Amino acid sequence: CGIVGYVGPRPSQDILLAGLARLEYRGYDSAGIAVIDEAGSLDMRKKAGKLAVLRDSLTDAAMPDGSTGIGHTRWATHGGPTDVNAHPHLADDDKLAVIHNGIIENFAALRDELTAEGVTFLSETDTEVAAALLGREYRASEDLQTAFRNVVNRLEGAFTLLAMHEDHPGLVVGARRNSPLVIGLGEGENFLGSDVAAFVEHTRSALAIGQDQIVAITPAQVTVTDFDGNPVEAQPFEVSWDAAAAEKGGWSSFMAKEVAEQPEAVANTIRGRVQGDQVVIPELDGLDDLFTGIRRVIITACGTASYAALVGKYAIEQWARVPVDVELAHEFRYRDPVIGDDTLVVSISQSGETMDTLMAVKYARERGARTLSVCNTQGATIPRESDAVVYTHAGPEVAVASTKAFSAQITALLLLGLHMGRVRGSLDASAADVVAELQELPEKVAQVLADETEHVSQLAGWMADTRSVLFLGRHVGYPIALEGALKLKEISYIHAEGFAAGELKHGPIALIEPGQPVFVIVPSPRHSALIHSKVVSNIQEIRARGARVIVVAEEGDAAVLPYADEVIRIPLASPLLEPLLAVVPLQIFAMALATAKGLDVDQPRNLAKSVTVE
Ligand code: G6P
Repeated sequence: CGIVGYVGPRPSQDILLAGLARLEYRGYDSAGIAVIDEAGSLDMRKKAGKLAVLRDSLTDAAMPDGSTGIGHTRWATHGGPTDVNAHPHLADDDKLAVIHNGIIENFAALRDELTAEGVTFLSETDTEVAAALLGREYRASEDLQTAFRNVVNRLEGAFTLLAMHEDHPGLVVGARRNSPLVIGLGEGENFLGSDVAAFVEHTRSALAIGQDQIVAITPAQVTVTDFDGNPVEAQPFEVSWDAAAAEKGGWSSFMAKEVAEQPEAVANTIRGRVQGDQVVIPELDGLDDLFTGIRRVIITACGTASYAALVGKYAIEQWARVPVDVELAHEFRYRDPVIGDDTLVVSISQSGETMDTLMAVKYARERGARTLSVCNTQGATIPRESDAVVYTHAGPEVAVASTKAFSAQITALLLLGLHMGRVRGSLDASAADVVAELQELPEKVAQVLADETEHVSQLAGWMADTRSVLFLGRHVGYPIALEGALKLKEISYIHAEGFAAGELKHGPIALIEPGQPVFVIVPSPRHSALIHSKVVSNIQEIRARGARVIVVAEEGDAAVLPYADEVIRIPLASPLLEPLLAVVPLQIFAMALATAKGLDVDQPRNLAKSVTVE
């Protein structure tokens, strides 16, 4: 869910709605705002559906404005996406408003306790229970901050909670446990947000607050304490991108813009990390200990990031000569994995807030492992919970389906593999060539975009009625096949699956019937004639059974021509760099197909970009 809060001299409704628009990628089942108006009373409006529905309702019937406000955009957990279940939730005779992100695990017990005291509930949400509890505590203490502290100490689970009361105009209180919340510092006004996007158009000066901390903002002051009320220092940081970076700027969708920004995302991620023919990541300066004396690496992530992890496995094993396993974060900590201080656990997360990944990182630390995160968001929780962080510099990614963040993640993992290899002394002479080639990558990605966008979009247009698409790849082409299939599922709702090409004959080949579209990512014949020939054989096997074969192959690879219905070309690159080129047409394909079906590519149904619940 997305959360925003404002106190200051200005009317807050527009500020809240604009903040929510930027946070809508976090969930868009329903939205709501509450403000304390000029007359000092609390007003609230909330609606099921996207933010536009709430906006329209405010246009049709205005609500009084005021300069203290909170807003919420929801991704439903407890209770379906209805008007009643939307946030804010009110208590204390509608004088108090609460919004929440996360899951309150002990909400049933708390609800029983309050029901026994005569409280009735309108919604099915855990949030309303927190609101009612706050109402009760407020009536007992008449002090919002004391009451709020009492409440957060009773809650179990993960939450970001914001509250305001009409007795206290000019005050918004917030708390976080395992769920994101940052503070934006303005001139005579202050902001709270799930991430900096909520307020970046007003200020780029921010404070990160830690776990189990409470914040109170007034127009003139920001106070941060722990859950017991003891003051704590919040960490200041500057937001490196501006509001324009988080806007569509003439593109038909955020996804189209973000696909096009990939050359820049890759270039920015490499920048400052190459010295001569070596990779030196400045953030890892003085942290060689993380990489020496380890016996294994585990990379953990969810969704698209987990496919970047699979590419990372090849890179780190190749250059750092240490075994690497990739595990989905939500599986990792439920099986008593063999880890200890000889294990480096690398987590990958665009948002840095994915709860499954965060919990895996915490678990790894508790078990004594060394932890490093690859993350795209400054001030996010996962990097703060890790021993080290390598940031991807993709800029804000708004579309739910990840594209430029994925490319930046692969880039960062290539850099990490080369950095680790240098530190561990395991690089051979060929590494210098790869380092040189890294610099050419942005240009090559740009070339794929320039050469193939129209062709692939046309192809997608013809295939708008397709019900199933398969993707095959080998070596690093395999994770790209998985990612190609995921993109299609996410935004065009077409059944799609990715397979390791060699696995096909062990089962999935039974799916092939005449006309079945199959994408095949063909590795370069220049690196391994053997792998290449195996993939060409796989193509023949499916072709013989009537598949419609679309190959992604490097320029000049003529061996695929006799068996391909369509050929998508990518520039020549070293094997481990190829994924960055091969993925681009698959992203374009998914996007064009979703567009041809008239779907919302940025906000696909049922999904949220940043899933902050387990
Ligand atoms: C969600 C999104 C995916 C994303 C995954 C991991 O499931 O819908 O697109 O890949 O989370 O997100 P992260 O922010 O951790 O990279």
